[in-house]
Amino acid sequence: MTDENHSPLDSIWESEDPIFANKELLDIEHIPNEDRIIGREDEISSLANSIHPAIRGGKPRNTLIYGKTGTGKSLVAKHVTQSAEEFARDRDTKLDRAYIDCTQATTETQVVITLARSFNQPETTDITVPLSGLSTNAYYDRLWNILDSLHDVVIIILDEVDKLQGNNVLMQLSRAGEAGKLETCKVGILAISNKISFKDSLDERVLSSLQEREFIFPPYDANQLREIMRHREDAFREGVLSDDVIPLAAAFAAQEHGDARKALDILRNAGELAKEDDSDAVREDHVRNARQKADIDRFSKLLQDQPTQSKAAVYALSLLADASDEEEFPTRRIYEQYERITDSLDIDSLSQRRMVDRLNELAFLDILGVTDRVGRGRGKGITNLYYLLEDPTVVQTAIESDPRFSPAN
Ligand SMILES: Nc1ncnc2c1ncn2[C@@H]1O[C@H](COP(=O)(O)OP(=O)(O)O)[C@@H](O)[C@H]1O
Ligand SMILES: [Mg+2]
Repeated sequence: MTDENHSPLDSIWESEDPIFANKELLDIEHIPNEDRIIGREDEISSLANSIHPAIRGGKPRNTLIYGKTGTGKSLVAKHVTQSAEEFARDRDTKLDRAYIDCTQATTETQVVITLARSFNQPETTDITVPLSGLSTNAYYDRLWNILDSLHDVVIIILDEVDKLQGNNVLMQLSRAGEAGKLETCKVGILAISNKISFKDSLDERVLSSLQEREFIFPPYDANQLREIMRHREDAFREGVLSDDVIPLAAAFAAQEHGDARKALDILRNAGELAKEDDSDAVREDHVRNARQKADIDRFSKLLQDQPTQSKAAVYALSLLADASDEEEFPTRRIYEQYERITDSLDIDSLSQRRMVDRLNELAFLDILGVTDRVGRGRGKGITNLYYLLEDPTVVQTAIESDPRFSPAN
């Protein structure tokens, strides 16, 4: 008779993670407690001052936040608005906030639907917000109604705002009060961007209402990156981190541009690699390998929704970069290489024009870089030069993880 209390799986269920104690502390989405936020005291208090009127139901100042990736923009915006919401609740101010990731909601209608659904309490308002089927204007009307009937003041975080298509939603939201769309509810916008050039794309009226306050988040130095990681050390079991792990991960991330996201990615990946090795400690070589893995993961994520044709174009650029000392390449050379790749993958080639459209789209998404247009001699017109933002090996490994690009092809 088998003992029902002992399955062979028990030993697996019973085993504990030998490396991580609280891995979620290293998740990029994780919002750490205030005491784990390092070196952002000034930014936190500036932003808090900027939205301060909201606590008593006044209009928060619209604020633009700039800074490179991993400088804590999203974190600080979420942290400060969350704290404002909690504080206001105790003061009987009906303050609500919404977070929009503009890489996910890119069109005006998507943003308005997401906001209306986020602020709505259908049992109270009797207003429904269907996921599709209404005109953009009808969605705006429902949003304004929801805001006036439920909230004194709302704060809207538009993260990665440069990915929004068009300015209209910024115009509508930033001027809703003046334009008489809202009777009582006040709206404050926190717009966050990695690109300072984002401002150039804005209509002057939108810019002046969005830019009541403006902050730039500087990169972290190696000391700050070390502190940020030290304050998450309890993600690991006691004693598994070798002494040189955090300083090395900090040095790598500081080389990049002082990117805390990179630092935490490297640390998490190093732990995973140690686990895969059945190692009882995370060591320097895990960190070195994790660095490359973090680059590849980041790049794969950027590319994941791209069509095969676009991947082929990036792959073409990476082969050129691999084979020469040059870094920037004109469209004609990329196109020749691209056609060889589509041939060997046995898929259709786009025309050169259409491939260039794809390259420009990829440059917009920061998947590759493009130089300003340069003259190519009299009568020859102008052409762009494209370059990789990552090591060719990283780019190729990321693309080859798509089975359509497997070496068998
Ligand atoms: N000052 C900081 N202290 C602690 N962790 C930080 C700090 N800045 C950033 N991080 C962490 O680094 C990662 C990237 O930060 P994030 O706010 O997403 O950067 P950004 O929005 O500027 O790209 C997140 O996991 C975040 O928790
Ligand atoms: Mg961010």
